[in-house]
Amino acid sequence: MILAFGGNGQLGQELTRAAAASAIPLAALSRAQADIADPAAVRDAIARHDPSLVVNAAAYTKVDLAETEIEAAHQGNEIGPVTLSAACASAGVPLIHISTDYVFDGTKQGPYVESDPIAPINAYGRTKAAGERSVRESTPLHVILRTSWIYGEFGQNFLKTMLRLAATRDELRVVADQRGCPTSTSDLADAILAIASQLLGGKKPWGTYHFAGSGVTTWHGFASRIVAAQAPFTGRRPRVTAITATEFPTPARRPSNSELDCSLFERVFGFRGRPWAQEVDAVTRALVGETREKDSHVA
Ligand SMILES: NC(=O)c1ccc[n+]([C@@H]2O[C@H](COP(=O)([O-])OP(=O)(O)OC[C@H]3O[C@@H](n4cnc5c(N)ncnc54)[C@H](OP(=O)(O)O)[C@@H]3O)[C@@H](O)[C@H]2O)c1
Repeated sequence: MILAFGGNGQLGQELTRAAAASAIPLAALSRAQADIADPAAVRDAIARHDPSLVVNAAAYTKVDLAETEIEAAHQGNEIGPVTLSAACASAGVPLIHISTDYVFDGTKQGPYVESDPIAPINAYGRTKAAGERSVRESTPLHVILRTSWIYGEFGQNFLKTMLRLAATRDELRVVADQRGCPTSTSDLADAILAIASQLLGGKKPWGTYHFAGSGVTTWHGFASRIVAAQAPFTGRRPRVTAITATEFPTPARRPSNSELDCSLFERVFGFRGRPWAQEVDAVTRALVGETREKDSHVA
């Protein structure tokens, strides 16, 4: 069985759903059930579940707050991976660890490949880079999967924020000079289960990979697609105005290029992320279409 940590996050919940849909045995533990920075809790969880594979979907993900909540980000993204990878190493269990495009500085012209030098430009990226390093140092039995711009039906994400704003505002002003690859949690969960299938089948694809939705856009392009996708259900069509990152200052700097080259993942694991716009339509439909249907029953 697969044991996942961070079970209440947007990815953790999607993993639970995806595994259940494919009848893959998976137990997902919330932070309350197992804090990955707590060695005794992690050891106990591994002893109790006796997994064939561990997935770390837990992380401190508040990119702006990480600039000031330094200890919380350190615990979740550095101490957690150290603790978890050490426990996996001593139990001889492989670990799939999720990392981020924000380990790069965004100055590259084209998409980032796995061997590109990392140079994070914000505190979140620095803690995630340190987490990757400790996983590599603690256990050879690891797959590190870097992904980007995650959204889905569960938890909090950019797509849900845009839906909320689109419901009340006539104009959304969204950054258009940062580009990346929106990735649905559904796609990402499938990617993780594809890795799991190889590992549990005895293959040894150890190392670092990039996986994201296919295609590239900007936050403005992402928002425009979300607004277009919800309009048929809500009748709301706010204007989406392109602005620059300097017009929308945030505590944490973001890379201007977050595009990930996922061809290595595709060669090794045999599939690629679905086109990002198609996934945005599907997730929006699931969120807004379902809500409207429920509302109409109430009325
Ligand atoms: N979100 C993105 O756009 C994005 C982009 C690239 C990569 N990633 C990576 O993808 C992975 C999944 O992210 P996500 O978007 O699913 O994040 P998420 O929704 O914020 O979920 C993370 C989960 O981890 C839990 N957690 C935090 N610290 C923990 C600890 N010490 N022990 C146990 N659980 C802990 C959180 O619990 P609490 O809520 O109680 O803190 C939360 O339930 C992370 O590795 C993240 O860095 C995310």
